[in-house]
Amino acid sequence: MKSDPKIQVPDGLDLNAIPTHVAFIMDGNGRWAKKRLMNRVKGHEQGAQTVKEVVTACRELGIDVLTLYAFSTENWARPKEEVKALMYLLKRFLRNETEELREKDIRLNIMGQIERLPDDVRKEAEQAMAATEKNSAMILNLAISYGAREEITRAVQQIAAKIRSGALDDKDITDKTISDHLYTAGMPDPDLIIRTSAEFRLSNFLMWQAAYSELAFTPTLWPDFTRQEFYQILIDYQQRDRRFGKV
Ligand code: IPE
Ligand code: IPE
Ligand code: MG
Repeated sequence: MKSDPKIQVPDGLDLNAIPTHVAFIMDGNGRWAKKRLMNRVKGHEQGAQTVKEVVTACRELGIDVLTLYAFSTENWARPKEEVKALMYLLKRFLRNETEELREKDIRLNIMGQIERLPDDVRKEAEQAMAATEKNSAMILNLAISYGAREEITRAVQQIAAKIRSGALDDKDITDKTISDHLYTAGMPDPDLIIRTSAEFRLSNFLMWQAAYSELAFTPTLWPDFTRQEFYQILIDYQQRDRRFGKV
């Protein structure tokens, strides 16, 4: 998509070289709250504000796909109260933001084990996806109960079932076959993956799709992340030489 002509961006940012797919590992909500002697849940609440800001910024920039890591398969092992609060916030986000997503022509796609979500959250998620399915300006992938190992395992199971039924010949398996069975089927791989809060790992995020993604890390905690910092990261990204193994 083309970027919004009215958008105000810093001089160094080239609006004609905006990445197609940007992904975020939204980390640091708990530490943000702890610094303020608040409950971790307050950090997640504040983090939801950053989500709105980043979605708006990406839409204005004309980014085609935005993927946000909101809850990992490992995050289920957090204290019950925190998981409950996160599920509540997720439901509230889906309920309150669907209208705005519709207005902005953004299609919501939940990626992850949707069947593992509490019934009320799952229903809200399904409604939000259905309500935005015709939108085409941007895809917002929300990774919930998402883990790359689960995603790849699931793909292998689906491919194996197709071989067993005769729908697929094992000699025809290519890397595209694998890509086509991931939650991101049909979407381009992320050009840029940004992780906040000074952790330098993928934490089971998009391990297949990240093969040639550029990585950016910032010490900023997710609730403090701003669109200005995002622009700076994009400027830095635009200076990089993506060789894809070639010379
Ligand atoms: C990211 O913030 C949100 C989720 C993983 C759900 P954290 O809750 O991981 O915050 P820290 O890393 O403890 O600061
Ligand atoms: C990664 O953050 C998952 C999300 C941002 C949803 P974590 O806080 O769960 O990751 P680790 O435990 O620091 O690796
Ligand atoms: Mg964390």
